[in-house]
Amino acid sequence: MPLPKAELHLHIEGTLEPELAFALAKRNDVELPYADTERLRAAYAFEDLQSFLNLYYELMAVLRTEQDFEDLAIAYLERAAAQGVRHAEIFFDPQAHIARGVDMGTVVEGLWRALGSSEENHGVSTHLIMCFLRDDTAESALRTLEAAKPYLDRIIGVGLDSAEVGHPPSKFREVYETAAALGLRRVAHAAEEGPPEYITEALDVLGAERIDHGVRCMEDPALVERLARERVPLTVCPLSNVRLRAVRRLEEHPLAAMLEAGLVCTVNSDDPAYFGGYVGDNFHAVRAALPQLGEEHMRQLARNSFTAAFLEGDEARRERYLSEVEAYRFTGR
Ligand code: ADE
Ligand code: ZN
Repeated sequence: MPLPKAELHLHIEGTLEPELAFALAKRNDVELPYADTERLRAAYAFEDLQSFLNLYYELMAVLRTEQDFEDLAIAYLERAAAQGVRHAEIFFDPQAHIARGVDMGTVVEGLWRALGSSEENHGVSTHLIMCFLRDDTAESALRTLEAAKPYLDRIIGVGLDSAEVGHPPSKFREVYETAAALGLRRVAHAAEEGPPEYITEALDVLGAERIDHGVRCMEDPALVERLARERVPLTVCPLSNVRLRAVRRLEEHPLAAMLEAGLVCTVNSDDPAYFGGYVGDNFHAVRAALPQLGEEHMRQLARNSFTAAFLEGDEARRERYLSEVEAYRFTGR
């Protein structure tokens, strides 16, 4: 039985496995510029975030109907459940779909067809977080927030993703103020490729409650001290960091040092179809690569995932999940 955990950093579009991509391409009569799944997989040798994003946006062409988004989410929930995920807070990128003529309603209704019954069908409770593309304009983000208004009962919060460098959080001050006024929770990717100062901006200008990635905080001891003192959760994605070359090798990943520094880290998969593993695989990989991490660190990471989840509306559920973590017995590796 896998360790119970919450996944807090997961782009649903990043769960599109090559087999499903080809099946949806066929169903929707979309041509992919790859002959087969093997040749597509061969394109997964990324040099940095942008080289990944190019493929990530290209493959989205196969997602067209509510049924496609439902199938995508079901495939993720099945894999996540098998790896011990009890609660998932799932990102989606509406601007990437709207730009292709797929409207907000298709995306949200389609995802909801899977998420609305995910607890009954997969034993996984879920929240949806709508991300803004930071390499698009603030005006586009505001229009996207406006388009989401009919669906806000299904969206718990907003996030900020896509190409980071040169697109500081402060660009989205007004968007986040508007989101906060609508009662939405706030997170933001920061210091994945960008500088540690983007974390400070995300906290102080956007009011971010969690930082997605945040690994480059380790370059700024005063920031580390602040993040630890204020118990700001960081949703770390180890396999992603290696594949996108934010970290050279998993053995050099700062996760153990981050925990040692008192940071509230969680382990997540980011875009598991592209980076070689789902969240349980990330747990196993860091344990194998970082000798400083033992069973109690794994338990702490799982505990952190539920502590950092947006479960304020259902504290009894959070307590239930946390007691599952405490009761968990490790059986070998
Ligand atoms: N969109 C999907 N995955 C992402 C990542 N790791 N960083 C920024 N934007 C993303
Ligand atoms: Zn991400």
